[in-house]
Amino acid sequence: MKTICIANHKGGCAKTTTVLNLAVVLASQGARVLAVDLDPQGNLSSALGVDLQELEQSRLTSHRLMLDRSGDPTAYLIHARPKLDLIPACLDHDAETLLEGAHVSRELLLKTRLTSLANRYDFCVIDTPPALRVPTLNALALSDLTVIPIEPSSFALVGLTQLMRVIAQVRQAYSPKMIIMALSTMYVARQNLDREVRGRLEVHFSTNVFDTTIPRAVGVSQAIAAGQAINEADLFSPATKAYKQLANEIRSWLGEEINTRENARESR
Ligand SMILES: Nc1ncnc2c1ncn2[C@@H]1O[C@H](COP(=O)(O)OP(=O)(O)O)[C@@H](O)[C@H]1O
Ligand SMILES: [Mg+2]
Repeated sequence: MKTICIANHKGGCAKTTTVLNLAVVLASQGARVLAVDLDPQGNLSSALGVDLQELEQSRLTSHRLMLDRSGDPTAYLIHARPKLDLIPACLDHDAETLLEGAHVSRELLLKTRLTSLANRYDFCVIDTPPALRVPTLNALALSDLTVIPIEPSSFALVGLTQLMRVIAQVRQAYSPKMIIMALSTMYVARQNLDREVRGRLEVHFSTNVFDTTIPRAVGVSQAIAAGQAINEADLFSPATKAYKQLANEIRSWLGEEINTRENARESR
Protein backbone atom coordinates (compact mmCIF):
# COMPACT_ATOMS: atom_id res chain seq x y z
CA MET A 1 0.00 0.00 0.00
CA LYS A 2 1.36 3.41 -1.04
CA THR A 3 0.17 6.29 1.11
CA ILE A 4 -0.55 9.75 -0.24
CA CYS A 5 -1.11 12.51 2.29
CA ILE A 6 -2.72 15.77 1.22
CA ALA A 7 -1.57 18.50 3.59
CA ASN A 8 -1.54 22.26 3.94
CA HIS A 9 -2.54 24.01 7.14
CA LYS A 10 -4.12 26.75 5.05
CA GLY A 11 -7.86 26.16 4.71
CA GLY A 12 -9.66 26.30 1.37
CA CYS A 13 -6.77 25.24 -0.87
CA ALA A 14 -8.66 22.14 -2.11
CA LYS A 15 -7.25 19.42 0.18
CA THR A 16 -10.59 17.65 0.58
CA THR A 17 -11.49 18.12 -3.09
CA THR A 18 -8.15 16.62 -4.12
CA VAL A 19 -8.57 13.61 -1.83
CA LEU A 20 -12.11 12.88 -3.01
CA ASN A 21 -11.30 13.15 -6.70
CA LEU A 22 -8.01 11.33 -6.50
CA ALA A 23 -9.49 8.46 -4.47
CA VAL A 24 -12.45 8.04 -6.83
CA VAL A 25 -10.27 8.22 -9.95
CA LEU A 26 -7.73 5.71 -8.62
CA ALA A 27 -10.56 3.32 -7.68
CA SER A 28 -12.24 3.76 -11.07
CA GLN A 29 -8.90 2.85 -12.68
CA GLY A 30 -9.10 -0.46 -10.81
CA ALA A 31 -6.86 0.24 -7.81
CA ARG A 32 -8.01 -0.76 -4.30
CA VAL A 33 -8.18 2.51 -2.37
CA LEU A 34 -8.53 3.45 1.27
CA ALA A 35 -9.49 7.08 1.93
CA VAL A 36 -8.90 8.39 5.44
CA ASP A 37 -10.59 11.54 6.72
CA LEU A 38 -8.59 13.11 9.55
CA ASP A 39 -10.44 16.43 9.55
CA PRO A 40 -13.09 16.56 12.30
CA GLN A 41 -15.12 18.85 10.04
CA GLY A 42 -15.86 15.61 8.17
CA ASN A 43 -16.17 17.22 4.72
CA LEU A 44 -14.67 14.23 2.93
CA SER A 45 -16.88 11.85 4.91
CA SER A 46 -20.03 13.84 4.02
CA ALA A 47 -19.04 13.98 0.37
CA LEU A 48 -18.67 10.19 0.39
CA GLY A 49 -22.16 9.81 1.81
CA VAL A 50 -21.56 9.45 5.57
CA ASP A 51 -24.24 10.74 7.96
CA LEU A 52 -22.17 12.79 10.44
CA GLN A 53 -24.86 12.69 13.14
CA GLU A 54 -24.92 8.91 13.06
CA LEU A 55 -21.14 8.89 13.13
CA GLU A 56 -21.12 11.08 16.25
CA GLN A 57 -23.13 8.31 17.94
CA SER A 58 -21.13 5.31 16.69
CA ARG A 59 -17.79 7.14 17.00
CA LEU A 60 -16.20 4.74 14.52
CA THR A 61 -13.88 7.51 13.35
CA SER A 62 -10.23 7.85 12.36
CA HIS A 63 -9.50 9.71 15.61
CA ARG A 64 -11.03 6.94 17.72
CA LEU A 65 -9.16 4.33 15.66
CA MET A 66 -5.89 6.07 16.54
CA LEU A 67 -6.79 5.83 20.22
CA ASP A 68 -8.08 2.23 19.97
CA ARG A 69 -5.12 0.03 20.87
CA SER A 70 -6.85 -3.34 20.75
CA GLY A 71 -9.77 -2.87 18.37
CA ASP A 72 -10.24 -4.29 14.91
CA PRO A 73 -9.51 -1.60 12.28
CA THR A 74 -11.92 -3.23 9.80
CA ALA A 75 -14.77 -2.16 12.11
CA TYR A 76 -14.01 1.44 11.11
CA LEU A 77 -14.26 0.89 7.34
CA ILE A 78 -17.16 2.28 5.33
CA HIS A 79 -17.64 0.99 1.80
CA ALA A 80 -18.01 4.13 -0.34
CA ARG A 81 -17.63 2.91 -3.94
CA PRO A 82 -16.52 -0.29 -5.66
CA LYS A 83 -12.86 -0.67 -4.58
CA LEU A 84 -13.03 2.44 -2.35
CA ASP A 85 -13.35 2.30 1.44
CA LEU A 86 -13.32 5.19 3.88
CA ILE A 87 -12.33 5.70 7.49
CA PRO A 88 -14.45 8.75 8.36
CA ALA A 89 -14.18 11.65 10.80
CA CYS A 90 -16.55 13.93 12.69
CA LEU A 91 -16.39 16.44 15.53
CA ASP A 92 -15.22 14.76 18.73
CA HIS A 93 -13.50 17.14 21.15
CA ASP A 94 -12.74 14.39 23.66
CA ALA A 95 -10.86 12.36 21.05
CA GLU A 96 -8.91 15.42 19.92
CA THR A 97 -7.89 16.23 23.49
CA LEU A 98 -6.85 12.62 24.13
CA LEU A 99 -4.77 12.61 20.95
CA GLU A 100 -2.97 15.84 21.84
CA GLY A 101 -2.27 14.40 25.30
CA ALA A 102 -0.98 11.02 24.08
CA HIS A 103 2.67 10.54 24.88
CA VAL A 104 4.04 7.25 23.59
CA SER A 105 4.82 7.39 19.83
CA ARG A 106 1.87 9.64 19.25
CA GLU A 107 2.93 10.35 15.66
CA LEU A 108 2.76 6.64 14.84
CA LEU A 109 -0.74 5.79 16.06
CA LEU A 110 -2.30 5.76 12.58
CA LYS A 111 0.61 3.93 10.99
CA THR A 112 0.39 1.20 13.62
CA ARG A 113 -3.39 0.81 13.27
CA LEU A 114 -3.31 0.66 9.47
CA THR A 115 -0.57 -2.00 9.29
CA SER A 116 -3.05 -4.87 9.27
CA LEU A 117 -5.02 -3.22 6.44
CA ALA A 118 -2.01 -2.59 4.19
CA ASN A 119 -2.45 -5.79 2.15
CA ARG A 120 -6.03 -4.94 1.30
CA TYR A 121 -5.26 -1.73 -0.58
CA ASP A 122 -2.99 -0.39 -3.31
CA PHE A 123 -3.33 3.24 -2.22
CA CYS A 124 -4.26 5.07 0.95
CA VAL A 125 -5.22 8.73 0.43
CA ILE A 126 -5.43 10.90 3.54
CA ASP A 127 -7.27 14.20 4.03
CA THR A 128 -5.86 16.34 6.84
CA PRO A 129 -7.29 19.21 8.89
CA PRO A 130 -6.05 22.79 8.50
CA ALA A 131 -3.69 22.46 11.48
CA LEU A 132 -0.25 20.97 12.04
CA ARG A 133 -1.28 18.97 15.08
CA VAL A 134 -1.23 15.27 16.00
CA PRO A 135 -3.61 13.96 13.27
CA THR A 136 -1.64 15.69 10.50
CA LEU A 137 1.68 14.52 11.97
CA ASN A 138 0.30 10.96 11.95
CA ALA A 139 -0.63 11.26 8.28
CA LEU A 140 2.82 12.61 7.38
CA ALA A 141 4.56 9.87 9.36
CA LEU A 142 3.15 7.16 7.11
CA SER A 143 3.24 9.09 3.89
CA ASP A 144 5.15 7.90 0.81
CA LEU A 145 4.04 11.02 -1.02
CA THR A 146 2.91 14.30 0.51
CA VAL A 147 0.94 16.56 -1.81
CA ILE A 148 0.67 20.25 -0.91
CA PRO A 149 -2.26 21.80 -2.77
CA ILE A 150 -1.80 25.50 -3.41
CA GLU A 151 -4.46 27.79 -4.81
CA PRO A 152 -3.49 30.98 -6.59
CA SER A 153 -4.03 33.77 -4.06
CA SER A 154 -1.78 36.52 -2.77
CA PHE A 155 -1.58 34.63 0.53
CA ALA A 156 -1.06 31.16 -0.94
CA LEU A 157 2.62 30.96 -0.06
CA VAL A 158 2.34 32.49 3.41
CA GLY A 159 3.17 29.86 6.01
CA LEU A 160 4.79 27.55 3.48
CA THR A 161 8.16 27.73 5.23
CA GLN A 162 6.60 26.59 8.51
CA LEU A 163 4.73 23.79 6.73
CA MET A 164 7.89 22.61 4.97
CA ARG A 165 9.83 22.65 8.24
CA VAL A 166 7.25 20.42 9.95
CA ILE A 167 7.08 18.04 6.97
CA ALA A 168 10.89 17.84 6.86
CA GLN A 169 11.06 17.02 10.59
CA VAL A 170 8.49 14.23 10.29
CA ARG A 171 10.19 12.89 7.17
CA GLN A 172 13.54 12.76 8.90
CA ALA A 173 12.10 10.98 11.93
CA TYR A 174 9.64 8.52 10.36
CA SER A 175 9.47 8.44 6.58
CA PRO A 176 12.87 9.24 5.05
CA LYS A 177 11.78 8.20 1.55
CA MET A 178 8.78 10.52 1.49
CA ILE A 179 8.39 12.53 -1.73
CA ILE A 180 7.02 16.08 -1.32
CA MET A 181 5.15 17.64 -4.24
CA ALA A 182 3.25 20.88 -4.75
CA LEU A 183 0.00 20.88 -6.75
CA SER A 184 -1.57 23.97 -8.35
CA THR A 185 -5.30 23.89 -7.64
CA MET A 186 -8.15 26.14 -8.82
CA TYR A 187 -5.82 27.30 -11.56
CA VAL A 188 -6.89 29.66 -14.33
CA ALA A 189 -4.09 29.90 -16.88
CA ARG A 190 -5.25 33.22 -18.32
CA GLN A 191 -5.03 34.98 -14.93
CA ASN A 192 -1.76 36.77 -14.29
CA LEU A 193 -1.83 36.08 -10.55
CA ASP A 194 -2.30 32.35 -11.16
CA ARG A 195 0.70 32.19 -13.47
CA GLU A 196 2.74 34.30 -11.06
CA VAL A 197 1.96 32.04 -8.07
CA ARG A 198 2.77 28.97 -10.16
CA GLY A 199 6.07 30.56 -11.19
CA ARG A 200 6.93 31.11 -7.53
CA LEU A 201 6.01 27.51 -6.76
CA GLU A 202 8.40 26.29 -9.43
CA VAL A 203 11.17 28.38 -7.87
CA HIS A 204 10.35 27.13 -4.38
CA PHE A 205 9.81 23.43 -5.20
CA SER A 206 11.99 23.13 -8.31
CA THR A 207 11.06 19.85 -10.06
CA ASN A 208 8.76 18.81 -7.22
CA VAL A 209 5.71 20.50 -8.72
CA PHE A 210 3.16 18.39 -10.58
CA ASP A 211 2.98 19.24 -14.30
CA THR A 212 -0.77 18.75 -13.99
CA THR A 213 -2.68 21.81 -12.84
CA ILE A 214 -6.25 21.44 -11.54
CA PRO A 215 -8.42 24.00 -13.30
CA ARG A 216 -11.00 26.08 -11.48
CA ALA A 217 -14.35 24.70 -12.62
CA VAL A 218 -17.74 25.26 -10.97
CA GLY A 219 -18.61 21.66 -11.75
CA VAL A 220 -16.04 20.50 -9.20
CA SER A 221 -17.77 22.16 -6.24
CA GLN A 222 -21.25 21.35 -7.56
CA ALA A 223 -20.26 17.69 -7.85
CA ILE A 224 -18.82 17.55 -4.33
CA ALA A 225 -22.01 19.14 -2.95
CA ALA A 226 -23.93 16.35 -4.68
CA GLY A 227 -21.63 13.69 -3.22
CA GLN A 228 -19.74 13.04 -6.43
CA ALA A 229 -16.25 13.34 -7.82
CA ILE A 230 -16.08 15.37 -11.03
CA ASN A 231 -15.43 12.29 -13.20
CA GLU A 232 -18.74 10.87 -11.94
CA ALA A 233 -20.65 14.11 -12.62
CA ASP A 234 -19.14 15.30 -15.90
CA LEU A 235 -16.93 13.08 -18.03
CA PHE A 236 -16.01 16.01 -20.25
CA SER A 237 -15.06 18.60 -17.63
CA PRO A 238 -11.44 19.77 -17.98
CA ALA A 239 -11.12 18.90 -14.28
CA THR A 240 -12.00 15.26 -15.02
CA LYS A 241 -9.07 15.06 -17.41
CA ALA A 242 -6.83 16.89 -14.93
CA TYR A 243 -7.52 14.49 -12.04
CA LYS A 244 -6.83 11.48 -14.29
CA GLN A 245 -3.54 13.07 -15.33
CA LEU A 246 -2.74 13.76 -11.70
CA ALA A 247 -3.44 10.12 -10.79
CA ASN A 248 -1.05 8.99 -13.53
CA GLU A 249 1.65 11.46 -12.45
CA ILE A 250 1.30 10.21 -8.88
CA ARG A 251 1.57 6.60 -10.01
CA SER A 252 4.75 7.39 -11.86
CA TRP A 253 6.31 9.28 -8.93
CA LEU A 254 5.49 6.31 -6.71
CA GLY A 255 6.87 3.82 -9.22
CA GLU A 256 3.45 2.24 -9.72
CA GLU A 257 2.20 1.07 -13.07
CA ILE A 258 0.26 3.70 -15.02
CA ASN A 259 -3.24 2.68 -15.97
CA THR A 260 -2.60 1.74 -19.58
CA ARG A 261 -6.15 0.65 -20.39
CA GLU A 262 -7.43 4.12 -19.61
CA ASN A 263 -4.59 5.87 -21.43
CA ALA A 264 -5.24 3.79 -24.56
CA ARG A 265 -8.91 4.80 -24.44
CA GLU A 266 -7.90 8.42 -23.99
CA SER A 267 -5.48 8.63 -26.92
CA ARG A 268 -7.97 7.07 -29.34
N1 LIG B 1 -11.01 22.91 -9.05
C1 LIG B 1 -11.93 23.62 -8.38
N2 LIG B 1 -12.77 24.45 -9.01
C2 LIG B 1 -13.70 25.18 -8.33
N3 LIG B 1 -13.87 25.12 -6.99
C3 LIG B 1 -13.06 24.30 -6.30
C4 LIG B 1 -12.05 23.52 -6.94
N4 LIG B 1 -11.39 22.81 -5.98
C5 LIG B 1 -11.97 23.14 -4.79
N5 LIG B 1 -12.97 24.04 -4.98
C6 LIG B 1 -13.81 24.65 -3.93
O1 LIG B 1 -12.98 25.38 -3.04
C7 LIG B 1 -13.45 25.26 -1.70
C8 LIG B 1 -12.35 24.73 -0.80
O2 LIG B 1 -12.04 23.40 -1.18
P1 LIG B 1 -11.76 22.26 -0.09
O3 LIG B 1 -11.40 21.04 -0.85
O4 LIG B 1 -12.88 22.16 0.88
O5 LIG B 1 -10.48 22.89 0.63
P2 LIG B 1 -9.76 22.45 2.00
O6 LIG B 1 -10.10 21.02 2.27
O7 LIG B 1 -8.30 22.67 1.74
O8 LIG B 1 -10.26 23.38 3.06
C9 LIG B 1 -14.67 24.35 -1.76
O9 LIG B 1 -15.84 25.14 -1.79
C10 LIG B 1 -14.49 23.60 -3.07
O10 LIG B 1 -15.73 23.19 -3.61
MG1 LIG C 1 -10.92 20.12 3.93
